Amino acid sequence: EAIEKGGYEHFMLKEINEQPRSIADCMRGRLDAQNGRLIVGGLRDYINKFQNADRIIITACGTSWHAGLVAEYLFEEFARIPVEVEYASEFRYRNPVINEGDFVIAISQSGETADTLAAIELAKSKGATIFGVCNVVGSSIARATHAGSYTHAGPEIGVASTKAFTAQISVLTMMALMLGYQRGTLSETKYIQLLSELEAIPAKVEKALKLNEQIEKISEQYKDARNFLYLGRGYNFPVALEGALKLKEISYIHAEGYPAAEMKHGPIALIDEEMPVVFIATKDSSYEKVVSNIQEVKARKGKIIAVVTEGDTSVKAMADHVIEIPHAHEALVPLISVVPLQLLSYHIAVMRGCNVDQPRNLAKSVTVE
Ligand code: AGP
Repeated sequence: EAIEKGGYEHFMLKEINEQPRSIADCMRGRLDAQNGRLIVGGLRDYINKFQNADRIIITACGTSWHAGLVAEYLFEEFARIPVEVEYASEFRYRNPVINEGDFVIAISQSGETADTLAAIELAKSKGATIFGVCNVVGSSIARATHAGSYTHAGPEIGVASTKAFTAQISVLTMMALMLGYQRGTLSETKYIQLLSELEAIPAKVEKALKLNEQIEKISEQYKDARNFLYLGRGYNFPVALEGALKLKEISYIHAEGYPAAEMKHGPIALIDEEMPVVFIATKDSSYEKVVSNIQEVKARKGKIIAVVTEGDTSVKAMADHVIEIPHAHEALVPLISVVPLQLLSYHIAVMRGCNVDQPRNLAKSVTVE
């Protein structure tokens, strides 16, 4: 087992650190930015259905559902097709409206999640086209779908999903760019620019991983917290949800993720000097709005840990801690901004003596409903 961990203390830490490579592996053979080429092979036979879909329905559970939320922003922004993101467990029992013109994307690391599999069977029976985004080759979901693309992240052993999440987002980003370009809703110039930005992501994730020591020090200060709040807007809203899920599942600290603007509709009541609030406040179209949300927390003496873009000064002046990540196009930021949150939950859990690779009550794949 020590050999399998490749010198890391836990599989989770190894998998977090593998992300520059797993994202690159996921893009290999699909993305060639220099020549302006992007081909998601699995889509080949279904590209017409995808391009002409009335609606995209994304179904998944847990972290994979969070990747689906990021995809909602991507598909709507670049391809202008309406998207619905559904918890598979709700979707399958809701008697949902599904039509033949719907393109259903099921996301699953393991490819064995019972609810996701049942949601697929339901959508299939209504005549929709089903596309799988799975990590495990030959898994039940990969076999049950009409077509699909593997994430090629390699085996993920830690129960808390890390590299599978960024690989899922990488595939979904490539699908959104390909779709937008083919539909003409994404201009050639922007498409080419995004392709090269995407190609630069692994190196930026590598840089974000260098924040490890700083994050370990921050973790020391907050390891005994009883609650955490994670806030973000736009593309960073699903990242806030994912950060909170990671902390809950491995450290057993209660954590909530929220869209930052929703804070004033309830969670703001929780804020006092005991409450650490993690903001994902990168320089993007909602930056100014997030800054005012940070001010609101500051005014109530909450402790602010902010993930910001390198060189940021405004948030630095307000936050208790800033974690600076490399700049990227806002649609690609989740691939980088989630990394410090993975490390934060990892260190806090280790400091609390938790079994990070096999947290209590959790299984790597939930094959029962
Ligand atoms: C993630 O850290 C969790 N362990 C869990 O939410 C997981 O993402 C969920 O069970 C879905 O699994 P899947 O991707 O294998 O379908």
